[in-house]
Formats: sequence, structure tokens, C-alpha cells
Amino acid sequence: MRSLRTGLSLASLVTGLALLLAAPAAHAADTPLRDLAAAKGKVIGTAVTGSKLTGAYGDIAGAQFSSLTPGNAMKWGTVEPAQGTFDWTEADQIVAFAQAHNQQVRGHTLVWHNQNPSWLTNGSWTPAQLSGLLQNHISTEVGRYKGKIASWDVVNEPFNEDGTYRPTLWYDGLGADYIANALTWAHAADPAAKLYINDYNVEGVNAKSTALYNLVKSLKARGVPIDGVGLQAHLILGQVPSTLQQNIQRFADLGVDVAITELDIRMALPADSAKLAQQKADFTSVVAACVAVTRCVNVTVWGFTDSDSWVPGTFPGYGAATPYDENYAPKPAYYGISGALGGTTPTPPPPAGACQAAYSVTSQWNTGFTGQVTISCSGASLSSWKANWTFGAGQQITQAWNATCTQSGTVVSCANASYNGSVPDGGSVTFGFNGSWSGSNPVPVVTLG
Ligand code: XIL
Repeated sequence: MRSLRTGLSLASLVTGLALLLAAPAAHAADTPLRDLAAAKGKVIGTAVTGSKLTGAYGDIAGAQFSSLTPGNAMKWGTVEPAQGTFDWTEADQIVAFAQAHNQQVRGHTLVWHNQNPSWLTNGSWTPAQLSGLLQNHISTEVGRYKGKIASWDVVNEPFNEDGTYRPTLWYDGLGADYIANALTWAHAADPAAKLYINDYNVEGVNAKSTALYNLVKSLKARGVPIDGVGLQAHLILGQVPSTLQQNIQRFADLGVDVAITELDIRMALPADSAKLAQQKADFTSVVAACVAVTRCVNVTVWGFTDSDSWVPGTFPGYGAATPYDENYAPKPAYYGISGALGGTTPTPPPPAGACQAAYSVTSQWNTGFTGQVTISCSGASLSSWKANWTFGAGQQITQAWNATCTQSGTVVSCANASYNGSVPDGGSVTFGFNGSWSGSNPVPVVTLG
């Protein structure tokens, strides 16, 4: 018997998955979302934070998604904090990561009323000056990334809820034609990039989405370069609009592409298994609506992990809005997305009133791998735990963290550390390990003892 602890290294990612107490047959490793999406002719994306693109976060972002949107890195306030002083560090980093992982980039965003630099918002400008500043901003940023950005969210959130134009720096100073001009300038700077108008609460058929529809129609009639509309889709649990697919279809019928650009589905905290199941159903219906319409080209989640989501900070009391939990374990929502994209891996239904252990391979390279086990309880709780399994193909644990693991022959037993024995009802604990493998690395059945 050997006792092993701590340490971590990661390489490219191959997911494996999940298993239970009740010991159903082992699943094959999940097909990455980007491969499932590609088979449907779709792109699947995530918003990212540049500084986090290492370790498990980078592995998942690179392996599962075929498009990245900088969550903040390309906003005006980030790239030009002082007039004439540019900081492209994070934007460049995200673009480089995307290129290294054969991913598209959605540029976000060029013209918005939020997250502008204070020199701009506090300045007093004539219309001609304001127009010049906007043109210069668009030409500089789009030009810098010419050929590297598949699609730009050129104009963000131009409408009020009733479908009138939002009074902003841009609308108040330049009138509604700031939108047409922004599109025209972006097109001049990168003729190959697809240009979008992006907004929230335009997912279903309503006054706001109809205003967007009428705007796109008139822009097209005028010959203004507009390629698509972005439906942000910051949704609330159980409230996917019933007219989502119909709305996507009406934009497609206008002759523009549609992207779901910022999908998250928030719930009142704490999460529990019923809410997570509803969230899975909601993610399924959003992705399925996009899959059903040929011109719906991209579904992007606004952060893939609950540890990198704007929701808790913006909507107090709400969270758990993304497809992976804070420890990077896929949630039922992940399987909602993969299922809607044609993936076949089922979510093991959580047994009523029990605790279960889910095993996954988070990274795998030529001779080694990183794995994790998440123990979660619903209708039950634990004050200490032991997770046990038998490796089927000669794998050997080399290090573990957040648990004390022993391996004897093929049999592994991992006991809680002093600080994480307690798993409350509705809560979970994750521990991780590195191991060696050769030939194959099948996912074992984990039992709790
Ligand atoms: C959010 C970011 O996720 C946060 O980190 C930031 O503090 C505020 O902006 N609609 C948009 C996104 O178009 O740019 C916003 O992103 C979320 C709402």
C-alpha cells in the first residue's frame, strides 16, 4: 500500500465521465461539444477571461469549444483606458489561444453604452468629434485583428424594452444612423468579418425583437453591411421563451445569420437537483432551437464554469448559470447541450435521497492523465467518505489532492482529507489525482463506502 498526496499537472483534454453508487455500465469518454456541434454544422462557443486560460480552465475551453468570445478584453474601456493609450494584452492573448486551438473568435463589442473609458464618457464632444472618435475606434480595433475575427458584435444593446432606441452617448449624439455607420466602418476595416447587432431580451418574439427585426430589414434594404443578429440569452430558469425558434427563423428568413451569443440560465441559489434538471431541459431547448434553424450558426455560453460567471455579481441571490460547476465538473446542463447537439451520453439520474460519486478524466496525454471524482449528495449527507474503484487497464495513481488515496494492485481507495469530509445535502466535494496509463484508460465505476 502506498499513500499519495498533492501536486497537479495538466495537458490536453479528453473527458471521461461520471459514475454512481448504483453502478451502471461505464460510459465511453464524452465526445467534445465542438465535435458534436461541427457534425451539425454549428459552432459552439464560450466567453473567456484571458488570465484564466491555463490548467483545467484552459483545457476545457480549448477542447470543448470551437469559438471564444472575450468576456471583457475587447471592450473600449479595456483597450483604450486613456485616449491614445492602447492595451491589447488580454485581447491578443485570447486571439492567440484561439488560433492555437483552431477556434473562431467573436469580437465583442465595438459600440456600447457600458464599459467605455471615462475620458470618452466624461468628454464633451461635438457630433463631428464623436463620429470621428467612433470611426477611429472601430477602424483601429477591427483593423488590428483583421482576418482573425470570424464575427464582430459591432453594436451592442441598442434598444429599450419597448423597441425604441436606447438613449446613449451614441444615439443622443449621432442619431440612429450611428448603427449603420458603425457597420459600414467595421466592414471597411475587415471585409471578411461577419457583422452583428447583439441585444438581450430579444430571444422571443416581442416589441424589442421586432424593433431589431425592422432595423435589420431596413439596413439590408439600404445595402448596409449586416450579416447577423446576436440573441444574448441571459435567461432565468424555466423561462426559455416559447417563441425562440420562431424568432430565430424570422431573422433567418430576412437573410441574416443568427447566433446565441451569451447564453446562461440562472437560478435562485442554492442549486438543487430539481433546479439542475430544469436547467438541463432549458439548455436543451435553447440549443435545439438553434440546431433546428440552418442559419443559426453559433451558440456561445457566457462563461462555461460557475466559477467564471457574471451572474452572482450582477443578480444577487442567483447563480449556477453555466454548464460546469465551480470545480469544472460537467453539470446536467452540459449534457443538455451535448444531447441537443446529438451526443448520446446520458446523465446518470441522481438516485433519490443518496450520495453519488462521478469520475471523470479531465486531461490525458501519452502516458499520463488527470482525473477527478465529485461526490454529491441530494436528500442525504455525509460527514466522512471513501471513494473506491478498480482500474480496468493497469492504470496507476501517482498523486492525489484533496483526498488521501491508496492503491493496492488495481484497487484504489480514496478517503476524505481532514477538511472536506462533510458533504451537505445539495452540496458536493471534488478531489483530483494524476495517474499513468497505457493502451487504454477506461472510466471505472466508483462506489462510496
Ligand atoms: C459582462 C461581463 O461578463 C462582466 O465581467 C462585466 O463586469 C460586465 O459585462 N451583456 C454583454 C456582455 O453584452 O458584455 C456583458 O458582460 C453581460 C451582458
